[in-house]
Amino acid sequence: MKAFDNKAHYYKKFEKALHGKFMTHITMHGAWVNLIFRVNIIIIVLLAASLSMMIIYRFSINPILVGMILNNVQGLFGQILGIMFCFGGYQGQKAKIQQCLNLLEIPQEQEKIEKKESWPKRGTVTFDNVHLRYRPKTDLVLKGLNFEIQGGQKVGVVGRTGAGKSTMSLALTRIIELETGSISIDGVDIAEVPINKLRSKITIIPQDPTMFTGSLRMNIDPCKKSSDEEIISLLKKAGLDSLISQKEKKEGEEQTFGLNYQVEENGKNLSSGEKQLICICRAILRKNKVIILDEATANIDLNTEQKIQALIKEEFAECTVITIAHRLQTIIESDQILMLSEGTVQEFGSPEELMQDRDSRFNQLIADLKNNNH
Ligand SMILES: Nc1ncnc2c1ncn2[C@@H]1O[C@H](COP(=O)(O)OP(=O)(O)OP(=O)(O)O)[C@@H](O)[C@H]1O
Ligand SMILES: [Mg+2]
Repeated sequence: MKAFDNKAHYYKKFEKALHGKFMTHITMHGAWVNLIFRVNIIIIVLLAASLSMMIIYRFSINPILVGMILNNVQGLFGQILGIMFCFGGYQGQKAKIQQCLNLLEIPQEQEKIEKKESWPKRGTVTFDNVHLRYRPKTDLVLKGLNFEIQGGQKVGVVGRTGAGKSTMSLALTRIIELETGSISIDGVDIAEVPINKLRSKITIIPQDPTMFTGSLRMNIDPCKKSSDEEIISLLKKAGLDSLISQKEKKEGEEQTFGLNYQVEENGKNLSSGEKQLICICRAILRKNKVIILDEATANIDLNTEQKIQALIKEEFAECTVITIAHRLQTIIESDQILMLSEGTVQEFGSPEELMQDRDSRFNQLIADLKNNNH
């Protein structure tokens, strides 16, 4: 607090919290005093009434009875308080049960999409005037994004550092909610889709592959939805057969690890390319229609990258693939190129269209690439 010179702010916060505590404390104390006052009045009235009766019938009343009445009227104070206390507790518990019942009666959030199990069918992604900021008082990061990616298209996203490329993928999975505008997939606004369902339908392959400590099988198919044969044939396609054909010595005999190959913490015993390929295999098995690769191949040599691109092209042929990349080679063969600049769309079109426009930023990037190669 001292380092950020925030003492006044926290002092106010503390004061407010203390005020809240005292307000409830004073109210409760006041209620107790009120109750005790009222019970005392009742006792005094009872005592006065019984004393008056005793005075009126002073010649005929049994003195033992007088002693008993006086003694018991005084004892009533504690008993009345006890009854009141129990009654108060009963009312409190009843209110809690009532609140639970009220909660049960609240109409459930309408899950319009739930019935459509097959959504999304085509994977058409539409950004309509999307504005987004990370926190209320910070600047807008996406400033009115408008574009439509047809289902099954491969789109390459390029732009300077800080242009909002990764933010776009966060918006698509609703990790950050939009300020205005909407994003729809196959015409359904993603804001209306339950968040778990939305995230299960979009696959993001980030730059840093996530590996779990455990078998290769568990890493590729954590939900155990695919058969061993399916996984092995996929690994072969991805060129990872060397991993599963490694041998270990067990009881004097040599056996292949197969899918039981043990991945160490954070995939320490795998190369970056292998880790990335495993992540892509995992994504392929999930069979989602919308795939986002956020600089997934940035740390990988060109050869392995080409292998990965070929695998993506084959396995995700029917899917919408959004590839965020710094290297032009990664996205040059895409159906569409989306060029972002400071949170807005600078250029959007097929590579041929953009190349025809001599002044396009895309042409400049290609010229830069050629110059670098020479
Ligand atoms: N968690 C965050 N909180 C606040 N602002 C953020 C946050 N993450 C990113 N930003 C801001 O949003 C803007 C866009 O960031 P984003 O990560 O989308 O850029 P990018 O295009 O993916 O860049 P790069 O090519 O370096 O990955 C940047 O100006 C950044 O300062
Ligand atoms: Mg980024």
